[in-house]
Amino acid sequence: MRITIFLFSIPIKIPIFVLKFLIEMNKTILITGGAGFIGSHVVRLFVNKYPEYQIVNVDKLTYAGNLENLKDVENAPNYKFEKVDIVDFEAVKSLFAKYSPDGVIHLAAESHVDRSITNPLEFIYTNFVGTANLLTAARDFWKGDYENKRFYHISTDEVYGSLGNEGFFQETTPYSPRSPYSASKASSDHLVRAYHHTFGMNVVLSNCSNNYGPNQFPEKLIPLSINNIRNNKPIPIYGKGLNVRDWLFVIDHARAIDCIFHNGKNGETYNIGGNNEWTNISLIKKLCEVMDKKLGREKGTSEKSITYVTDRAGHDLRYAIDSTKLQTELGWKPSLQFEEGIEKTVDWYLANQEWLDRIVSGDYAKYYEQMYKNR
Ligand code: NAD
Ligand code: TYD
Repeated sequence: MRITIFLFSIPIKIPIFVLKFLIEMNKTILITGGAGFIGSHVVRLFVNKYPEYQIVNVDKLTYAGNLENLKDVENAPNYKFEKVDIVDFEAVKSLFAKYSPDGVIHLAAESHVDRSITNPLEFIYTNFVGTANLLTAARDFWKGDYENKRFYHISTDEVYGSLGNEGFFQETTPYSPRSPYSASKASSDHLVRAYHHTFGMNVVLSNCSNNYGPNQFPEKLIPLSINNIRNNKPIPIYGKGLNVRDWLFVIDHARAIDCIFHNGKNGETYNIGGNNEWTNISLIKKLCEVMDKKLGREKGTSEKSITYVTDRAGHDLRYAIDSTKLQTELGWKPSLQFEEGIEKTVDWYLANQEWLDRIVSGDYAKYYEQMYKNR
């Protein structure tokens, strides 16, 4: 199909795909939380795959934000970093005024359940108020013209609550969050849908299962265990280790985000998952086996460091995602089997021990000062 445009009053017929390309060109996208674990993989994917886009990484650089994750793209011409706290509404409005973004991919969040138990308010501020600030700035800046604009909110399967031994979370599963983290994410999901229904904002949402892979902060189960195994420290398992999580390789999550941002239907939610359930104890035993092999240790050595510790308060028993909608409607599927993914992950952490050591020592936090002092 062709469409007629007028250039200096001269009618020119151009194919619709060319018009689409011209519109896509110069798109500016704000990616919040881009210095974190998943965000850094999304930023890298977009910077490399879409040289025609301007990618602006918006991050406060909390303890979980690490610009060293993005060393390989920090000098790319289509990449910019903005140190902004999304809880600061004036700063968020200034961002919109400065960049006139066409899209927002919103990942910034406080993300660790255990921290939400010790300090819930930080989660309410960032996850709820921060999301409200971004939505309101987008609404005010886009002024009702949502054509070719999109707000994409990244959420978690934890909003659905806890499953028994059977069943899966579907997009229609009623929300039943049970930790301050999941409650703060659930309330932000509701806000995004409210802005769609009330103001007509073009939004998409996705709820993903547990991610693993390179660059994850070593407070979460897999990187924490890798770090402890390599240092011959105890591997803490909460309760009896029988809680079940559905694990997805982080790059597959980033691919899903790319797919949903570009092809997801306005107002829709997509579940993302690996169809890869493990009890915590069997996962850690598998990890010990892989680490023993990689470290040249005798089989069974690392398992001896498994230590059962007091359970997490309100610990959800099981999460499992049904991602049929994303697979059938948008054609996404995971690219890796878990065995391959966990090997790749261990290889990455062993090849990047300095990255881990700099986190443990706190040195990574100085990177921003060094890198951006003259900018
Ligand atoms: P992360 O903790 O590794 O990174 C979060 C990033 O957000 C950090 O760079 C941090 O500096 C930034 N941030 C925090 N507060 C901010 C604020 N007030 N203003 C600006 N930036 C701020 O988290 P992650 O694991 O990469 O998760 C990213 C998103 O994906 C979150 O929204 C999370 O809820 C969601 N999610 C995570 C998982 C998972 O397994 N990790 C699974 C499903 C969904
Ligand atoms: P985590 O990586 O914190 O992710 P989430 O709580 O979002 O699922 O934890 C994954 C599972 O591992 C969860 O059931 C809690 C458990 N866990 C441990 O047993 N020991 C640990 O040291 C950690 C951090 C988690």
